[in-house]
Formats: sequence, C-alpha cells, structure tokens
Amino acid sequence: MAFPDGFLQELKARNDITELVSQYVSLRRRGRNMVGLCPFHGEKTPSFNIYTENGSFYCFGCGVGGDVISFVMKIENLDYVDAVKFLAQRAGMELPENAYDDSMSRLRKRIFEANREAARFFYQSLYQPVGREGLDYFHRRMLTDRTIRHFGLGFADDDWTSLTTYLKSKGFTENELVAANLAVQRRSGSGVYDRFTNRVMFPIIDLRGNVIAFGGRIMTDQKPKYLNTSDTPVFKKSENLFSLNNAKNAGTRTLLLCEGYMDVIAVNQAGFTNAVATLGTALTAEQAMLIKRYADEVVICYDADEAGQKATARAIPILRKAGLLVRVLTIPNGKDPDEFIKSQGADGPEAFRAVIERSGNDIDYRLQKLRADYNLETSDGKVGYLEAAAKVIAPLSSAIEQDVYVTKLCREFEIDKSAFQERLKKLNRQRSREDYRRQQQKIRTDLSGRSDKIDKDKAKIPRSSSAEEALLAYLLQNPDSAAYISGEITPEQFQNSLMRRYYEYFLTRINDGKDAMMNVTADFTADEADKIYQIISKHAGVASTKQSLDETIQVIREESAKPKRSDIGKMSPEELNAYLLNTRKTKK
Ligand code: GTP
Ligand code: MN
Repeated sequence: MAFPDGFLQELKARNDITELVSQYVSLRRRGRNMVGLCPFHGEKTPSFNIYTENGSFYCFGCGVGGDVISFVMKIENLDYVDAVKFLAQRAGMELPENAYDDSMSRLRKRIFEANREAARFFYQSLYQPVGREGLDYFHRRMLTDRTIRHFGLGFADDDWTSLTTYLKSKGFTENELVAANLAVQRRSGSGVYDRFTNRVMFPIIDLRGNVIAFGGRIMTDQKPKYLNTSDTPVFKKSENLFSLNNAKNAGTRTLLLCEGYMDVIAVNQAGFTNAVATLGTALTAEQAMLIKRYADEVVICYDADEAGQKATARAIPILRKAGLLVRVLTIPNGKDPDEFIKSQGADGPEAFRAVIERSGNDIDYRLQKLRADYNLETSDGKVGYLEAAAKVIAPLSSAIEQDVYVTKLCREFEIDKSAFQERLKKLNRQRSREDYRRQQQKIRTDLSGRSDKIDKDKAKIPRSSSAEEALLAYLLQNPDSAAYISGEITPEQFQNSLMRRYYEYFLTRINDGKDAMMNVTADFTADEADKIYQIISKHAGVASTKQSLDETIQVIREESAKPKRSDIGKMSPEELNAYLLNTRKTKK
C-alpha cells in the first residue's frame, strides 16, 4: 500500500525542491529552471536541471531524475519510506498511520540490528578463549586494545554455526540473516550457516553510525585474503567508504585515501583520523562524490608497489572529476602506510606526517612518473617527454597553475616558454573540440535510446517509440486531454512495451482523478522512474500544440497498423509483397 495522495501532495508542497536541493548543490537560474553541477556524477558544466513548476529534477549528463522524494533517496542513501519520513520530519508533518508498506524499511532496520549484534558478538569473542588467535593477530600487527575497541574489531570463530545460533537466540530469523549476508543458505537441505568463519573482522559503519557490512581477513597468507559482505539492502560496496564515519569528524577538509582496512586503522592509531579506504574495489565515481561532500582535497596513500601505483593512476582522474584537489603520497621503500609507520617505531606518527607534507600534487606525481618512459639523455627522449608533459598540463583550468609547471619544465630543459605555451594552446583547442563532440554525442545517444537498457524496444522501433514518448509527454503536461487522447489511441496501439505500461498507468491514475506523477517514485523502479523524468525533460519547453498532438497520434496509428515482425512468418507471398512495398514507402 502506498501513502495517500493527499499526504504526498502536502509533503511535496511543504518541501520545495529548489530549496531542498540547494542545501546540497549550488544552483543558479537558467530561464524558467534552476541548474547546477550534478551531485550524482562528476561534471564541470552543469547539466542538472530543476523544474520548479512541476517539482522535478533531471540530469542530462547521467540520466538520473525524479521528485523531492527520489532526490532524498539518492543523496541520503535512504529507501522510499525512509525518504518520505525524512521529508515529513523536515516539514513537521505526521505520518499517516498504517497507510504504507514499510516492509523494506523494516527489513533494513532488522539488518542494522543483526549487524550490530554480530559486531558485538565478534568483538566479545576476541576477549574469550575462542578468540585468542584473533587477538594475538591484532596485537602482532601492533594494534592497541584501545584501537581495537574504537573500530569495534572482532573475531569470527571456526564454528560454522556459532553466529547464526546466537543471532537466532536473539530473535532474528534465518531470512533476516541471509538478507544481511551474515548467513548463507545451505545448498542441500534446509538451514543456514555463518558467512564469516576463522577471520578477524572489520565492521563497516555508515555516517549515521549503523553497522552496514563487514570485512574479514584470514590470519594466514592464504587467498583470498579478505572476504567482504556482498551487496545487501543496506550496503553497496561501490558507494561506501571504510571509516568515513570517523574521517568526517576529523576537523579537516583533507582526507587520506588508503588502500585497505589495516592501513586506515594504523594511520588512525598514529593520530590521523581523516583516513578512509575503498572496500576491496577500485575507487568509483560515487565514492569520489561522497568524499567531495566532506573534503576539498585528497591525499592518495596507496601502496608503493606496482598495483598501488596503477590504482593511483586510475584514482587521480576520478577524484579530479569530482572537483577534488589531489596529492599523492610517496612512501619510501615500497611499503604501505601501515608497514611504514610500524617500521619507524616510536617516530612513526612524525615520520608519516613528514611524508604527507612532502607529498606533491597529482601533476607533480604524473610528471615524475612520465620521466621513466623516456631517455632524457637524448634529444628525442626530451622532445617525447615534453610533448607528454604538455598533455598533462594542458587540461589544467587555472592559468597560474599551468604557469608554475611550464616555468619549472622550461627552466630545467632550457627551452623557450612561448614555444611551450603555443603547444599548450593548440592541445587545448583540440581537446575542447573533442570534449564538445563527445558530450554532444553522448546526449544524442542517450536521447535516441540506442544504448538504452531500460527501454529495450526503442532501438528496434524508434519511430513508434518517439511518437509514444511524445504522446506521454503531452498527456503529462495536459492531463485534461486524457479523455480525448484515450479516445484516439488505446494502450494496445502502443508498440513499445515500456511506453505502453506508462500509458496504461497514467491513464488509470488520471481517470481515477489522481495526479498522474504523484506516486511514480513508489510505483516504478528507479531506472523506470528516471526514464519518465527523461521523457518529460526532453519535451519540457517544447510548445505542444493540438496540431502536433494530432500528428503524433497519426504516427502511432500508422505504426500500429503495420504487421508485427512476429506475424511476417505467417504471411502469404502476396501479403509479404504488400508489406515490403508498404515499409519501403514509409521509409521515404
Ligand atoms: P594486510 O595484508 O592485512 O596488511 O592488508 P592490506 O590492506 O595491506 O592488503 P592489500 O594491500 O593486499 O589490499 C588492500 C585492500 O584490498 C584490502 O584492505 C581489501 O579491502 C582489499 N583486498 C585485498 N585482498 C583481497 C581479497 O582477496 N578479496 C577481497 N574481496 N578484497 C581484497
Ligand atoms: Mn598491509
């Protein structure tokens, strides 16, 4: 069951979308809309639009769209019911009693509770005989009991049912434990067993203090070394960071980005609480956007080994794109931060601080790395290096920043500054042409739906799909025309199955006297809802006349009158001939 329409109407009226969004994104007016940099993907020119008149948003860059509720769902990482609760609270409204289905919200709450109990269970095991091995392991790695308690570290024992038995005794069902990925369904027969055994455990805590997942490390050199919670209703590893809950309170807008749990913990123990790590995957754009909410600058503190350097090279553009300043730590002797701090004994914290202070920015780092690719003793090598260096420097948006590197390089290689600057200008002209082309191409592909995963029919039947989209847009802009439109076109005449579903849905709502869009966020998947907002945005501002409506109707009629592909096999030779003749005609 959904929230009553009247309630949602008031909720949306009391939570003005522009006002709400501007708490997260700085917006400026463009015509009738507001625009800003999209908070859901990294971009430099704004393609995130707020349509004040119908309370919706849509990003032409990443295709995300919705209303105030879906905005809160995405930016606060909440499910539908919790986002509604969030907005109700914000507006000082009471939630209607029993009017909504909060089963997902309840499940998420149970998963949080199960995770918290599990974290407690793992922590307590450490200090019992069964957990001796785990405690010894942490102590061997120089963690103090204070650090262990602060991070809530723990131990999953070797018994395959100890945690499940314990949590069941606390009232959790097997389904809840499987949903939390704390237990796994047995393949044969019934019952479940523990997901984590014989490992030291690292709880992952979100910004509200909920335990959302675990990482577990085996205590030997066996592989795989780490096992993480799979994605669950409360956890998506590509969208969370380890220890961000600590780092956001560190009192600085600079974060240290480490490779793993142990590095973050060792760095914390040395007094740097502004450290985070990805959860066993490469850094994603979502994580970079999340960092951007709490920091202006990131120091990449990855391992000095080859894997770490590759990961650094991949992370730099992702962080830059999110609008972050980037510095790169170079740890001496191929160590990771954890090993480095330990190797310095009592001087660890000071030594690490010195390494951070010495760390250059990403441009210094890349220019330095490039040197290894050229023989700088030869003229060819120098030219090659300077050409490559120009490509690194050219994209910098600040002229002052550019000049710093240009001056340094020209001095070192004893070349003329103006020659180098000419080269940069040329590269930039090329690049902005390419950027522009790529951006146009992307918008065109998105709008044409050629790469559309949600709307699979569109590529096959572009003509009817476009007309059906236009009809839906008209219907949503002019709900009064529903009687006329539904008299002209039945849902069966829609060729695109997704558009047909939308059409049936909106007609039913309008016929029931409801606002067509009020409940889209609850009634469709996120991707399907994005699509609806895309259709509306595409047609926003396009004045639709009765004449254009009738043309659209005509196209839908024509297309629906054509035989379906599946019917072609059953045609007689005469019918097939007529069909081919007909399709050739309409193509012209
Ligand atoms: P220690 O070996 O305990 O010092 O950990 P580390 O953090 O130094 O490990 P490493 O540099 O090898 O890996 C960095 C991070 O990558 C870890 O913290 C994990 O998040 C992840 N990782 C490493 N090995 C595995 C693995 O086998 N499976 C998964 N899922 N993640 C891993
Ligand atoms: Mn390590």
